[in-house]
Amino acid sequence: MTSPSNLPSWGALQTHYEQIKNDTMRASFADDPDRFSRYSMSAAGLFLDYSKNRMTDQTLANLRALADECELKSWIQRMFAGEKINFTENRAVLHTALRNRSALPVLVDGEDVMPGVRRVLQKMRLFVRSVHNGEWRGCTGKRITDVVNIGIGGSDLGPYMVTEAMVDFACPDIRAHFISNIDASDLVHTLGPLDAETTLFIVASKTYTTLETMTNAKSARQWFFDETGKQDGVARHFVAVSTNSRAVQDFGIDPANMFEFWDWVGGRYSLWSAIGLTIALRIGMDYFEDLLAGAHAMDEHFRTAPFHENMPVILGLLGIWYRNFFGAATYAVLPYDQRLHLLTDYLQQSDMESNGKSTGRDGRPVSVDTGPILWGGPGTNDQHAFYQLIHQGTHLIPADFIVALEGDTNLTLHHRMLVANCFAQAEALMKGKTADEVRVELSAAGMSPEDQEKLVNHKCFPGNRPSNMILMDKLTPHNLGALIALYEHKIFVQGIIWNINSFDQWGVELGKKLAMTLLSEMEGEQQPEQHDSSTNGLLGLYKIRAR
Ligand code: F6P
Repeated sequence: MTSPSNLPSWGALQTHYEQIKNDTMRASFADDPDRFSRYSMSAAGLFLDYSKNRMTDQTLANLRALADECELKSWIQRMFAGEKINFTENRAVLHTALRNRSALPVLVDGEDVMPGVRRVLQKMRLFVRSVHNGEWRGCTGKRITDVVNIGIGGSDLGPYMVTEAMVDFACPDIRAHFISNIDASDLVHTLGPLDAETTLFIVASKTYTTLETMTNAKSARQWFFDETGKQDGVARHFVAVSTNSRAVQDFGIDPANMFEFWDWVGGRYSLWSAIGLTIALRIGMDYFEDLLAGAHAMDEHFRTAPFHENMPVILGLLGIWYRNFFGAATYAVLPYDQRLHLLTDYLQQSDMESNGKSTGRDGRPVSVDTGPILWGGPGTNDQHAFYQLIHQGTHLIPADFIVALEGDTNLTLHHRMLVANCFAQAEALMKGKTADEVRVELSAAGMSPEDQEKLVNHKCFPGNRPSNMILMDKLTPHNLGALIALYEHKIFVQGIIWNINSFDQWGVELGKKLAMTLLSEMEGEQQPEQHDSSTNGLLGLYKIRAR
């Protein structure tokens, strides 16, 4: 495929954008009482209201034409069929196989991967059960009470986000902790309160070479030795999740205590694999499989639904509309759920590591903007932080609101207020507030017309700021699985339209190597000379001060 900007549908979208760019959603809602029912849908336990977008039927038709011209349907089939669509790493992209609940085989190089997937799930189930029922004990015979996941990026963010989100489903006897940063304070403060005799470490790394994870794992092992004095206790306190069994063995972990996964699972798509072991230990294997089932339901929807009622396709195409035609450089994800406080961090890796690319699949520089900057955080907290900029700043920031209709506590008033705030923000962003409306308010408050005019512009809201509303009945493992898969597929759709490979991460690979040169220079006696004067100067300061 050539650049999407050369396609007829791209030109049609540009023309269409010029025609409707000044239309207001306020007017569209006034003109069409059915707008909500026409632009909302359900799938896999989620409900999407996308009526508060700056679009018409024609916009959606043009966007679907773009998807067709980019051969999105065939790319979806190719991904699910295990084709090596991650061509720069010569890998299939099959996180969907990890949650395949059907009996259908999934072939990579002619081999069905499903028996291996089921074998590892069964191994996880047995292990989780043995930790929970106390068959698996620490080296001094005590039950495991604390699980520490050591990993980074996809080997941390997914398990961390999900265990936080699933707090209401957690086993009370097992606590989960996460160490990711090379900054020793992460490790020291996490391990400080723990009892080594009742702590189990999960060293999670696809490659088992990542600097942060390996350094933290070695320091954790040393801490364990120092605390227990038992060099032979590693087998009861360290298990690994990796694709690299040789490196796991070299680290001193018995291969029997390794949970395998495969090179066709991308790091940021890996929480569905044994990388989810910490999740399973925290919430139990049944709930972990509910998470997989929710994702599978969304996979089936994505794979089979026609584009006009396909939730990830609709969200992906609307994202293209704002990114490439309105020039929106960022978009916000706003979960109204404190349990989802890590969702934005998680999605930042998912989206920005996937679509933060500037080389097309043809090896040439892209000619259109690609992945937006994703940011956000939980409401209502962030209403008191950055919402001001979304409402009245100079940027157009499309937003996704996410909220469960039912809360999980007895404090129903809190939940009603939470949902009310969520809906109110979306309404306010869409409607804005006109000068006349402000004047009416100020008059009612008794302000003189003269004083009103001093304030009126400050209190106006431009409105016409788009948002999607994603609802679920409750935040359950199933619905969370569906939500994460929804975003994964949305990212896929956009990568296909932009004609980029969403599944490699060469920019990050570079970062993994860069610091090593400097590290060896910091440890050496020589003054480094081969860098620019700034880097040389900084290294010099370090050598003088950090002795
Ligand atoms: O951040 C880059 C990355 O390659 C991610 O894609 C991956 O999730 C993370 O590093 C950790 O890698 P590993 O699981 O191999 O330690």
